[in-house]
Amino acid sequence: MRIDIFTLFPQWFNWFFQQRHLSNVVQAGSLTARLFDYREYTPLRHGQVDDTPCGGGAGMVLRADVVCAALEAVYRTPCDRARDERPLFLLSPRGQRLDSGLLTELERLPEFGLLCGRYEGFDERVSEHMVTGEISIGDYVVSGGELPAMVLVDALARRLPGALGSEESAVYESFSEELGGGLEYPHYTKPADFRGWKVPEVLLSGNHAEIEKWRREHQR
Ligand SMILES: C[S@@+](CC[C@H](N)C(=O)[O-])C[C@H]1O[C@@H](n2cnc3c(N)ncnc32)[C@H](O)[C@@H]1O
Repeated sequence: MRIDIFTLFPQWFNWFFQQRHLSNVVQAGSLTARLFDYREYTPLRHGQVDDTPCGGGAGMVLRADVVCAALEAVYRTPCDRARDERPLFLLSPRGQRLDSGLLTELERLPEFGLLCGRYEGFDERVSEHMVTGEISIGDYVVSGGELPAMVLVDALARRLPGALGSEESAVYESFSEELGGGLEYPHYTKPADFRGWKVPEVLLSGNHAEIEKWRREHQR
């Protein structure tokens, strides 16, 4: 799978892609991530990428011509056609909420692009003419699309071959089909007794059938 990330802050992702499960999927060839800085493609002078809102008001808006120039340089096609070749998603608080079902749809794509906003967000013509859809990480506003992009890529990467030490841990986790879409059961580790707070005895019993039963009963 290839994910193209358009951002004003590509350096934010340096640390992110060094994290173990992400570097694992990159090394395994399951994920290729490319980063593109709008500022490198802007046709405007002095690296300008934003402008004041038409009609007045606070803040700055990411210009449509700048986003278009970045898409055209990267995909070598008119910017209103780039989405025909691969889905392109704006990260936006008004987008479709990111959840397990949407991740499953994204997981099936061979490639897609994520457009990170900043300031007041994008000129509406980006949404109207250049993207396939919009994705939100929840009903709150963060300062830019970079953290939402990382949330999406992290959650997706966990599902890709080679991400985790044990493939099982991504299969049997909250919201997975294997757990009926529900939440995972509680985990305990050593010591068996910490300040009188005891691990449930059944988990120390070695009786796998009973342990499975306990886990099913304690799935939330
Ligand atoms: C400060 S926000 C813009 C908020 C916008 N003016 C509004 O009121 O909805 C700047 C950028 O952060 C990203 N962003 C903020 N919150 C987000 C969320 N909940 N989900 C996805 N992206 C978000 C988007 O890319 C957005 O363009």
